[in-house]
Amino acid sequence: MDSIVVKGGTPLKGKIQIAGAKNAALALMPATLLSEEPLTLTNAPRLSDIKTMTELLRSLGVEVTALQDGKVQVLSSHAMTSTTADYDIVRKMRASNLVLGPLLARHHQAVVSLPGGCAIGARPMDIHVTALEAMGAEIELKDGYLHANAKGGLKGARVPLRFASVGATENVLMAATLAKGTTVIENAAREPEIVDLAECLRRMGAQIDGEGTSAITIQGVDRLGAATHPVVTDRIELGTYMLAPVFAGGEVECIGGRLDLVGSFVEKLHAAGVEVTETADGLKVSRSNGRARAVDVTTEVFPGFPTDLQAQMMAMLCTAEGTSVLEEKIFENRFMHAPELVRMGADIEVHGGTATVHGVDRLKGAPVMATDLRASVSLILAGLAAEGETVVSRVYHLDRGYEHVEEKLGAVGAQIERIAGS
Ligand code: UD1
Repeated sequence: MDSIVVKGGTPLKGKIQIAGAKNAALALMPATLLSEEPLTLTNAPRLSDIKTMTELLRSLGVEVTALQDGKVQVLSSHAMTSTTADYDIVRKMRASNLVLGPLLARHHQAVVSLPGGCAIGARPMDIHVTALEAMGAEIELKDGYLHANAKGGLKGARVPLRFASVGATENVLMAATLAKGTTVIENAAREPEIVDLAECLRRMGAQIDGEGTSAITIQGVDRLGAATHPVVTDRIELGTYMLAPVFAGGEVECIGGRLDLVGSFVEKLHAAGVEVTETADGLKVSRSNGRARAVDVTTEVFPGFPTDLQAQMMAMLCTAEGTSVLEEKIFENRFMHAPELVRMGADIEVHGGTATVHGVDRLKGAPVMATDLRASVSLILAGLAAEGETVVSRVYHLDRGYEHVEEKLGAVGAQIERIAGS
């Protein structure tokens, strides 16, 4: 398995192009299942999670063609051969469950493996199931698979979600586009990836109102058609690279960055004394005046602070002046990066969903191991600030969500290289 070696202490200078959002693309790709006509996604990210979704869709008979080195994905569901999402693929990536809503909507049936646990928690699917049942689906759990049927098709309904789950909102949103009548998703997730999915579905002919608020109204239509849609900027990749100069010093402009995608994150950066400015092409971040200041962070659903930036923020706060308290409210087990950061000299105490970080003067390079996607990148960022060499092993997690990380950071002056493993 590959590892990444980072040598700290070199200030950064330059521009980083931010890719299309992984989490948006993983919802947009299954939207192809709603139509016989092709869906073309531009600005797609080049990631192993996209390959996994491609593998899953192909197993259902979807034609997927990657053009321009994967930046353009053309998907066509005109000759589907299966409505079963197999455990072998679903277990690799929870977002595989996003085929459930569209399969039920167009084919009135689906068999989808439950994803099972993952490193950051149990991640059940009860909200998806209850919501689709409210639309007339009959869903049964047998041998680890959800067997779903909607004889005669899904029906529009009032669908209140007990929690604003991103995936459940996406599944119901897609399902409702072809349901009979009107669906209202209450307590819907408001993440930018939901807005992006709604925009794409509208391009395909869906009738949707209210995305980006907690009540989304969908008027079902008979069929959806072809569309071309650009994937929204990845706000998590954006936030990650915005932090790079805070660790290493210097200045980085993130091309394609937008303040509305990272509002609550930027508020915390300002509170920590980090300068963020809007430019014509994106967002520029610089740190020239010593250590950042401690800030308290609580993860919340959008527009609150994203859980997917919590690990990176914790790594940054390890060398801030003062004590920071981080509360993780979305996932129950998302501090696995903390003991690795401690190996680099950080002072962190974890109690349940709360981590207290006492800022230290500096971190020291060490061999560390990444246990999930955002944890891996937080260790690379920490390596940029650390004295000496940091070797991050098991970086396959990283490749799920960050394209060419060593090239992007290397191009702005970081000393970083990938060592191919066996
Ligand atoms: C998506 C993102 C992920 C991000 C998360 C929260 C994708 C592909 N992934 O994941 O990167 O960290 O949103 O912003 O977009 N839950 C239930 N029952 C359910 C569904 C969810 O209890 O039926 C719980 C989960 O266990 C978790 C919380 O709700 O604790 C958030 O989950 P959800 O918003 O559904 O996240 P995902 O869509 O899986």
